[in-house]
Amino acid sequence: MSQLQERDSFQEQLEVLRARSLDRHLREISSAQGAEIEVAGRQLINLSSNDHLGLVNDSRLREAAINAIGEFGVGAGASRLISGTQSPHVRLENVLAKWKGTEAALCFSSGYAAAVGTIPAIVGKNDVILLDKLCHASLIDGAKLSGAIIRIFPHNHLGKLESHLQWSQREHAGKRILIWTESVFSMDGDRAPLRELVQLKKRFGALLLLDEAHAAGTPADQRIEQEKG
Ligand SMILES: Cc1ncc(COP(=O)(O)O)c(C=O)c1O
Repeated sequence: MSQLQERDSFQEQLEVLRARSLDRHLREISSAQGAEIEVAGRQLINLSSNDHLGLVNDSRLREAAINAIGEFGVGAGASRLISGTQSPHVRLENVLAKWKGTEAALCFSSGYAAAVGTIPAIVGKNDVILLDKLCHASLIDGAKLSGAIIRIFPHNHLGKLESHLQWSQREHAGKRILIWTESVFSMDGDRAPLRELVQLKKRFGALLLLDEAHAAGTPADQRIEQEKG
């Protein structure tokens, strides 16, 4: 393909996206993140942020970050597995594990990295992942990367999930089955039926993984912890 043909093919692809209003652009924010932000000289209310707990500008966190930069600099230097992991990260993970009542915690630099970093460690080829239809795109990428068989169930549809579980047990006996969903959904803000999911998971000997990007630390969090049992 010549350079000209290459450019035309990308141009064509862009036109298709534009025609379907699927072309995306970055919006420049010239203020700090918060409930109100400045975009193109206008002060706007931000209803699309994930900063549910308002931590981005919490004065204690700002101060701690500035102090940490003073002591440790601005980068890890290399992968933590290779050159060692730094004390503030270990302390953070210990505190998170204690808060969540878990054996351990592992921090990733983004939600996307957590999805693609964890799933392939939990399931692999011939295992099965059962994924809610409204799960975030990063979960779908993580599922694909694992090489496991993926089955999608309609949003919060326990009946369909149960039939997927029966199918998995029958067709992939002895393999791991992972139910993967969100406790509070990013798209609609609604919640997964956790009590029922835990019952199904136990009945079929499956694993249950929850993405709590929009739940951890929010008022819904405590209720979710009780429902997980
Ligand atoms: C439920 C959920 N999981 C994962 C992610 C990905 O997180 P990140 O943007 O930090 O990669 C998002 C992002 O909005 C999300 O809503």
